[in-house]
Amino acid sequence: MTSTYHALLARVQPAFDALLAGADPVLRPSERSDYQLNGVMALAKSLGRSPRDVADQLLSDIQLDGIATLEVAGPGFINVTLTTEFIQSHLLSTLDDPRLGVESRPTQTVVIDYSAPNVAKEMHVGHLRSTVIGDALRRMNEFAGFRVIARNHVGDWGTPFGMLIEHLIDLGEAQAVASLSIGDLNTFYRSARTKFEADDEFKDRSRQRVVSLQAGELETLRLWEILVNQSVAYFDEVYAKLNVELTAEEIFGESFYNDQLDSVVSDLDSAGLIEDSDGALCVFPPGFTNRDGEPLPLIIRKRDEGYGYAATDLAALRDRVDLLGADEILYVVGAPQAQHLSMVFATARLAGWLPERVTCEHVAFGNVLDRSRKMFKSREGESVKLVSLIDSAVERAEHALSERDSSISGDDRRTLALQIARAAIKYSDLSTERQRDYVFDLERMIAFEGDTGPYLAYAHARIRSIFRRLDAPWEPSVNGFSLLTEPERSLALGLLSLPEAFESALQLRAPHKLCTYLFDLAQRFTAFYEACPVLKAPEPLREERLALCELTAKTLALGLDLLGIEAPQQM
Ligand code: ARG
Repeated sequence: MTSTYHALLARVQPAFDALLAGADPVLRPSERSDYQLNGVMALAKSLGRSPRDVADQLLSDIQLDGIATLEVAGPGFINVTLTTEFIQSHLLSTLDDPRLGVESRPTQTVVIDYSAPNVAKEMHVGHLRSTVIGDALRRMNEFAGFRVIARNHVGDWGTPFGMLIEHLIDLGEAQAVASLSIGDLNTFYRSARTKFEADDEFKDRSRQRVVSLQAGELETLRLWEILVNQSVAYFDEVYAKLNVELTAEEIFGESFYNDQLDSVVSDLDSAGLIEDSDGALCVFPPGFTNRDGEPLPLIIRKRDEGYGYAATDLAALRDRVDLLGADEILYVVGAPQAQHLSMVFATARLAGWLPERVTCEHVAFGNVLDRSRKMFKSREGESVKLVSLIDSAVERAEHALSERDSSISGDDRRTLALQIARAAIKYSDLSTERQRDYVFDLERMIAFEGDTGPYLAYAHARIRSIFRRLDAPWEPSVNGFSLLTEPERSLALGLLSLPEAFESALQLRAPHKLCTYLFDLAQRFTAFYEACPVLKAPEPLREERLALCELTAKTLALGLDLLGIEAPQQM
């Protein structure tokens, strides 16, 4: 089915084209009318005519089918008011449509690289952002109909593993496993590092261990695997707490690409791209320079012959194009890695591993700050443990529930508290424009009022409670919507604009667009519910309003689900 927006655009486009082929009309939901038509000014400018004049001509050319009134406003806007029949017919078809008007499109393979924590290191808020944003993008792309392949590029290789393995040996396997399984990764890592810095004998052992690891010595690999498995079990625990769909099968850590790294170098070399810089093998992709204007190297192999991140990222990229058949690769990685990733993409293009038809995009995000707008750290100055963060959110949610004296108790109450905590954490992350920093403030995030996850989940549950008051399960039986009052009309228009909101969130990889939409919809619903009695209304109005309630609940539930947020039936 065509969305209201596109149906309207189809009425308007020919009039624009008649004046100038390819001219771009822009429709925006508007306060004063239903939509405002922009783009007239730009059109007038290219025609060298006055906007007013052009607007007048458009007015006489636009197909009025579905449009009640068109009015020129200001210097060159056109206010569009739709006919009730037009809105009504779209509402009716949305009511029958499980996709609520959002089109599904031909298959395209999208690889999404997200989460990517490091073995034997605590997951921090940066990983939280990558995980939550990546999960939302995954759900949105899947809903769009794409074939989505998730890749968790876990940091599970490199020189620190020498000291980590030696520390594991010193502790004894059982003791090491015990300390790692309670998720005390930071302590483990820190103790290893302290010893490495203080103790020369330990340092030597660690260095030798790296050599054995790289040589694939079996006992060393076995010990390494203990570290990996313990960490993966811990990551799984975090994902489960967050209700994030990332499985062990989707982990393709850095180690996975190990045996491809030599060929990365030799293939780059045959392509004539490798330069020896003081013993390090580098690529200098054009266009990247330092402050003094000197070309910047992407170091593929270090002077000690070890490989850096660039080599692994290149191997993974090649794999994603060749083996996975990616049409689009999204890297959900913090903003500080922008330069690294663009150099990797540029190198892959030069090497011919990344054909023009494949898009590679760094989906960057900003920092998480504390209430004094400093980087979010624990009192000890370390990154905050994700698990304890989620746990304190759950605690707060439980407290908030107890204050609301809800009828839900026992296990249901605990589940609900967890759902609210997740909604709070995820929504506050996703509702900020992703490139921007945001302040991690549990109290504000968990509030049931304002632009929060719990507020939206509650808005949904509140609508569901209307239906619980009916004697029998409700089945839609409406034939039309009269939409006589302003709040009803405004809610209807809100419901019909899900497809545009979804589309822009998907294209711009901007979950916050969906958040803004849902919050606006919830507010339209509140205005409607305050002004229009539902259950007490006479038929057929009662039925119509119940249908509006149903559509709102479905839209909120779908929108939240696309963000990875649950919408409980009752709160
Ligand atoms: N493990 C890295 C970190 O914790 C992030 C890796 C991002 N993904 C990638 N393909 N480079 O910072």
